[in-house]
Amino acid sequence: MTQADTIITGGKLVSPEGIVEAAIAIAGGRITRIGPAEEMPPAAEHIDASGLHVLPGAIDVHVHFREPGFSHKETWTSATQAAAVGGVTTVFDMPNTNPPTSTVDALRWKLDNAGRQAIVDFGIYGNIAPDNLAELRPMAEAGAVSFKLYMGSENPLVPCPPDGAILDAFALLAELGLRCTVHTENTPILEWRGARLRAAGRTDAAAHLEQHADVAAAEAVSRVGIFAEWTGCKIHIAHENSRYSLPHIRFAKARGVDMTVETCPHYLLLTTDDGARLGENFLRVKPPVREPGHSGPLFDALLDGTIDILSTDHAPHLPAEKRRASIWDCAPGFPGVETSMVLMLTEVSRGRMTLSDYVRMASAKPAKAFGLYPRKGVLAEGADADIVLVDMEKRGTIRAENLHSIGNATPFEGFAVQGMPVRTLVRGRTVALDGRPTGTPGWGRNVVA
Ligand code: DOR
Ligand code: ZN
Repeated sequence: MTQADTIITGGKLVSPEGIVEAAIAIAGGRITRIGPAEEMPPAAEHIDASGLHVLPGAIDVHVHFREPGFSHKETWTSATQAAAVGGVTTVFDMPNTNPPTSTVDALRWKLDNAGRQAIVDFGIYGNIAPDNLAELRPMAEAGAVSFKLYMGSENPLVPCPPDGAILDAFALLAELGLRCTVHTENTPILEWRGARLRAAGRTDAAAHLEQHADVAAAEAVSRVGIFAEWTGCKIHIAHENSRYSLPHIRFAKARGVDMTVETCPHYLLLTTDDGARLGENFLRVKPPVREPGHSGPLFDALLDGTIDILSTDHAPHLPAEKRRASIWDCAPGFPGVETSMVLMLTEVSRGRMTLSDYVRMASAKPAKAFGLYPRKGVLAEGADADIVLVDMEKRGTIRAENLHSIGNATPFEGFAVQGMPVRTLVRGRTVALDGRPTGTPGWGRNVVA
């Protein structure tokens, strides 16, 4: 038997199909054997996982790690430390940085920067801009994992392209075989309502919700489904937040559109009622956390497969940036990579879902949607040894001050959790242990070989 680097024994291995007790041998960063402990080869390192569950690392296909341009909110070092502690072993970074990732040069800068700092594996999104069609193929060749389309944007760094440009971009991505992740809101509605509400002197949190009306989301989901159908482009709907979009998602899928969909813990676990606890403006995120009545159907949709993937839309900001008097000045979004797994394991502990459900939505489905499966997203012989040991008995309380993100303004402050990652391995190396990052910056790799 060939020598292994590491053996993990005594744990319960979780897959979407079920849970089995088995040992894992790791060599050269990969899982080389899964089976009874007595059949494992000799190894330099032994990890005792007795009493623990063993999960494939979470794959978060939607994070904003802020470099270049906004490193006061987050760096790749702080962000990937947060990810590792949170049980996330692969992240895909969004392009709304400054400069945005709309050119090959910007993409190369990010790949290099991430490669020097990351302690978990990563992919980098290219941006579909109104005027960069000629850059898309070169960006794909330079190692972009996927592309992001802001169909629903007021951000001058990543403006929404006109529909004609979107169709051309989709036709090209269909040729390249790459999935496009889409922020699905109707930009003209956002701009029109934003101007009207500002002109009326509105600065309250409810104005943000009025601007980002459900109809703006439902229309964009429906339209992008039609564009995907006509071009053959694979699409991924980002951060689904509205129950009114669900019929349009189901209709597109029923027509055979290759559409995957994600939602995030804040849409599943918060409502506008949480504004009273947090300060109404603090809750600002795009698209918004909605009134009571959405989170339940979104949770159900995640369990029935209408929504495929759990992501975080990790969007760190400093607490001061989220506590401004006018809603329009309040930075949208929350950090998420460090809290997502503990929050969802807590839902498992409450009996709202199973560990197998969690692994399906957080690991297997994202890996499948973005072409990483079965190298990632599964505990299997030959797969990367991206592994999280989870203690389902361990309890804790989420505290912003304990998070590793620089922009640590979490809306889950004070949440009691049960079920926590206690050790995270990326390609066989322990990158976090008992809540502390242990990985060496530069260990993380681009998933696009
Ligand atoms: O709330 C959000 N924050 N939505 C986005 O689309 C962008 C993100 C950010 O970068 O802060
Ligand atoms: Zn985002």
